[in-house]
Amino acid sequence: MQDLTPPRDILDPIEIASIDEIRALQLERLKWSVRHAYDNVPMYKQRFDDAGVHPDDLQSLADLAKFPFTYKNDLRDNYPFGLFAVPRSQIMRLHASSGTTGKPTVVGYTANDISNWADLVARSLRAAGLRKGDMVHNAYGYGLFTGGLGAHYGIERLGATVVPMSGGQTEKQVGLITDFQPDGIMVTPSYMLNILEQYHKVGMDPRDCSLKVGVFGAEPWTDAMRKEVEEAFDMHAVDIYGLSEIMGPGVANECVETKDGPVIWEDHFLPEIIDPATGEVLPDGEMGELVFTTLTKEGLPMIRYRTRDLTRLLPGTARSMRRMEKITGRSDDMIILRGVNVFPTQIEEQVLATGGLSSHFQIELYKSGRMDAMRVFVEAAADSTDNLSKTAAARMLTKRIKDIVGVSTEIIVGDPGAVERSQGKAKRVVDNRDKE
Ligand code: DLL
Repeated sequence: MQDLTPPRDILDPIEIASIDEIRALQLERLKWSVRHAYDNVPMYKQRFDDAGVHPDDLQSLADLAKFPFTYKNDLRDNYPFGLFAVPRSQIMRLHASSGTTGKPTVVGYTANDISNWADLVARSLRAAGLRKGDMVHNAYGYGLFTGGLGAHYGIERLGATVVPMSGGQTEKQVGLITDFQPDGIMVTPSYMLNILEQYHKVGMDPRDCSLKVGVFGAEPWTDAMRKEVEEAFDMHAVDIYGLSEIMGPGVANECVETKDGPVIWEDHFLPEIIDPATGEVLPDGEMGELVFTTLTKEGLPMIRYRTRDLTRLLPGTARSMRRMEKITGRSDDMIILRGVNVFPTQIEEQVLATGGLSSHFQIELYKSGRMDAMRVFVEAAADSTDNLSKTAAARMLTKRIKDIVGVSTEIIVGDPGAVERSQGKAKRVVDNRDKE
C-alpha cells in the first residue's frame, strides 16, 4: 500500500494548533451557539429556563455540563422544522433519516452550514489520504440520506473529481471503477463486501483495481473487517464518522497515517462522554455515550445531543484534536442475552476469525420457551461449501462466540449468497422475539 500521509502544509492550521488555541476557539464558539439556540429555538429557551440555566452561565467549557441534554425524540416531537434556529426561507437544504419507528427526523442547513460541511468532508478526505486532482467514486446513497450528498460536496470542495454513483447496481459499480480508475471510494463497509463479491463473480482480481483508499462509515465496522478489505483490495481502509443531527458524514475522520480512531473536528463540534445511566460527564479515556454540541451550526444548533453511540475520547496523535475510539456499537443495538451484553461487532470479529466463512452475517433474536435466544446466519466461503466444511465452521464459530463473547448461539451456515445483502447500511439484527 502506498504511503498517503498528507504533508503538514496542506492541513488546515487549526488541525495542528495548540490545545490552548483549540479550547479558546471552542469556548468562543460555544458561547455563540448556546446563545443562538436559546434566542431562536423555543424548545431550548424553555428547557434552559426550566433547568435554571442561562447562556450567560457559560464561562468555561466545563460549564456546559449544567445544560440539559437534547434527544432524538426532541426532533420527532418538533417535526418537521420546529428546532430550526433560522426562518425556513434561509434553509438551503433538508435531509431526513427514516429511523425504525415513528416520524423521520428532519435536519436543515443554511448556506454557511453547507459550506462548513463541505470543508469538513474535504478535510476528512485529506486525512484519509486523498488530494486535489484525485478521483473519488461515491457509493453512499444519494437523496434524503445524508451520506451521498454530504460526501459529494466534500469531494468537490477537495478539488477532486466526483463519480456520483450512489448505492446499488453492484455490477455497474465494478464496471465504473474498472473504466474510470478512481483513487478513492466512499461507501458503507458492508456494501464494500458486496462490491468485493462482484469482483470474484466476474473473475477479476480486486487487487488490480485503481483504488488506493476506501473511506468507510455510516455503520459500525471492526479492525478485523479493515484488515480483510485492505488485503482484498490492496488499499487503505479508514473510518469516517458522523450523524445527520450533528451534520452528516465528516464529524470525525481517521488519519491514514495512524488508523487509530476518527479525529473529531473539534473546531466545529464539542464532544463529551457521559454515563448513559446517570448523565454524569466522564473523564477522557472512559467508555460511555458520546454527546455532541455543535459550535457553528446556524440552521439546526444542537446542544448536548445524545448520540447513543458508545466510545471513549482519546488524546490527539496525528492531529492536535481528540480522537474517538472506533465505535463498537450503539446503546440501542446492544443485545442483552441472558444478562450478557453483546454487540453485533463482536460477532463480526468472530465470523472473520473463523475459517471457511464469508464476511456476511445476520443475527436473529427469538424466543426459546421463555428465554431469549440468538441465531447467527453466516455463509460458507466459495471454496468451503461441502457439508463437512460447513459443519466444522459452525462448530468453530459456536465455540469462539461462547468462549470469547460469552453467549451460546445456534449457527446456520448457508451457501454463498444466503445472507441478505444491503445496498447501504447493513441490517445486522432481526428481532423476532415477539413472533410466534
Ligand atoms: O450515517 C452519516 C454518515 C454517512 C457517516 C456516511 C459516515 C458516512 P445517520 O444516517 O444519521 O448518518 O446515522 C448516524 O450511524 O449515530 C452511528 O450510530 C452510525 N455511524 C455513522 N458513522 C459510523 C462509523 C450517517 N464510522 C449513525 N462507525 C451514528 C460506526 C457509525 N457507526
